[in-house]
Amino acid sequence: MGQRHNTQVLILGGGVAGLSIALRLVASGQKVTLLAKRTLTEGSSRYAQGGIAAVTDAADSVESHIEDTLQSGAGLCQEAAVRFVAENAKSSIEWLLDQGVDFTRDDSDQRLHLTQEGGHSQRRVVHASDATGAEVMRVLEEKAYASPDIEIIDQSIAIDLITSAKLDISGPNQVLGVYALNKDSGRVDTFIAPKVVLATGGASKVYLYTSNPDTSTGDGVAMAWRAGCRVANMEFVQFHPTCLYHPQAKSFLVSEAVRGEGGKLVLPNGEQFMQEHDKRVELAPRDIVARAIDYEMKRGGFDSVFLDISHKPADFILEHFPNISKRCEQFGFDMTKQALPVVPAAHYTCGGVIADLDACTDIAGLYAVGECASTGLHGANRLASNSLLECLVMGASASEHILANSGANDEHCGLTAAEVPGWDETQVTDPDEQIVVTHNWDELRRAMWDYVGIVRTDKRLERAQHRVRLLQEEIRDYYSNFRVDNNLVELRNLVTVADLIISSALMRKESRGLHYTLDYPESFVKDEISDTVMVPPNYSASATEDG
Ligand code: FAD
Ligand code: SIN
Repeated sequence: MGQRHNTQVLILGGGVAGLSIALRLVASGQKVTLLAKRTLTEGSSRYAQGGIAAVTDAADSVESHIEDTLQSGAGLCQEAAVRFVAENAKSSIEWLLDQGVDFTRDDSDQRLHLTQEGGHSQRRVVHASDATGAEVMRVLEEKAYASPDIEIIDQSIAIDLITSAKLDISGPNQVLGVYALNKDSGRVDTFIAPKVVLATGGASKVYLYTSNPDTSTGDGVAMAWRAGCRVANMEFVQFHPTCLYHPQAKSFLVSEAVRGEGGKLVLPNGEQFMQEHDKRVELAPRDIVARAIDYEMKRGGFDSVFLDISHKPADFILEHFPNISKRCEQFGFDMTKQALPVVPAAHYTCGGVIADLDACTDIAGLYAVGECASTGLHGANRLASNSLLECLVMGASASEHILANSGANDEHCGLTAAEVPGWDETQVTDPDEQIVVTHNWDELRRAMWDYVGIVRTDKRLERAQHRVRLLQEEIRDYYSNFRVDNNLVELRNLVTVADLIISSALMRKESRGLHYTLDYPESFVKDEISDTVMVPPNYSASATEDG
């Protein structure tokens, strides 16, 4: 039997979204429990390189940050969300400084040093050298472990949400808690909580090649979808243009800041090519640069293109990119002397669980924050360094909403905590053949890479959908019969997310931002632009109205 836990606020995820919410809540006297499926900080946040977009310089303006975000989002951003995040960016940086984050400063006057990335018309990216995520997470992790009011349970993977609708309790759908597999004990624990925050990160592991760590398996999106939440804009998968091309590098990211500081993209013969694709050349938004690289690689039959900053002084390169240069050197590349072979890889999930500016979802008491959410900030293509920012700004507003509503919905829909049912394992046995799960992981990720990549067609998408639905059937069957383990939980989520990405892509009969299809190369005219909203069969509109 798994254990039972009672808590007021349960946060799923220990990235910048999850940790910043936890720290803000305990600062106001709230106790929280936080689950992470691997070690506390394993997730995309700690690998973030470039930085955090925020207007901190008098020569820049919030209006300009808003305009750049809208431009990058290719007509699909919700302006209210963009404004809200941009206006609260500076205070998020101040909050991080108060926590003790050591951002890079200008030598001359000790002001925050600002770097440049694609799609930004100004230098406005606050950073900690070329390892911003590591520095931010160092501080947040230390603070979280030091707090007696944060109960951290790592190696615990949430499987599914417990909701009133699942228990056939009438009235608006409300979250009651979560079932989570404790990987140390092998048992499924029951967490009962009136407020649950999804801060589970993205889903880029659904592709064979990705810049993301193993945690990005779309668990939050899949759990919310199964529980009855709407999900939006899943077709907009961001491919980062420049991941190191080397068999052992696991798509190691070479930050966009390298281009921001003067790096050029070149073909194997040394010729630049971005001028053929966009007047902003290397600093065009990411969708354009990734598509240009994909085009040039296919046109020339190349395995990669090259990113060259070796024309800059070696001292400059080593000072700005100490970690990237060290990592490249481990793979035999000296970026002070040679161009780096680079290819695009899946990097960021722009769509996600629909959440408003309080981070509330379609289910009362359930919040979604960070990469797993769709707030309207990113539209059809996220602007560089707006992601950590969104985690921080939306994390602040989620905590405010939780604090303001603590006590509301806290009585478990009329059930006592003891009456919320535990996990039922009576119908399952130990798995007989793990190979089914391993094989399906590989098949799914390859199908997504081959058929649902940077350039799409209806035929490729239909082919992918056919395969993914077969896999979904097989996994559903396996899940119903065998005891769960980490791989099975993640695969079940990945296949759900894959289906959402493909179905959303098939619904969009135009090319926009990160969704480019040869069948519909044009974009809709202004009045026809809308989000792709996927509505689950168990969605109940009344929950939204009342929740
Ligand atoms: P994550 O940091 O991914 O954390 C997710 C957490 O949820 C993890 O703790 C994970 O273990 C946990 N989790 C997931 N599923 C479950 C489950 N079922 N049960 C329990 N726990 C679960 N963005 C920027 O703005 N600037 C950058 O410079 C930048 N650089 C990047 C560089 C790289 C290499 C990568 C991969 C991304 C980069 N991004 C950058 C994007 C950004 O890092 C992420 O979007 C952001 O960190 C997401 O934060 P998060 O808290 O939402 O999720
Ligand atoms: C990078 O440093 O290039 C990543 C920035 C981002 O994903 O926002």
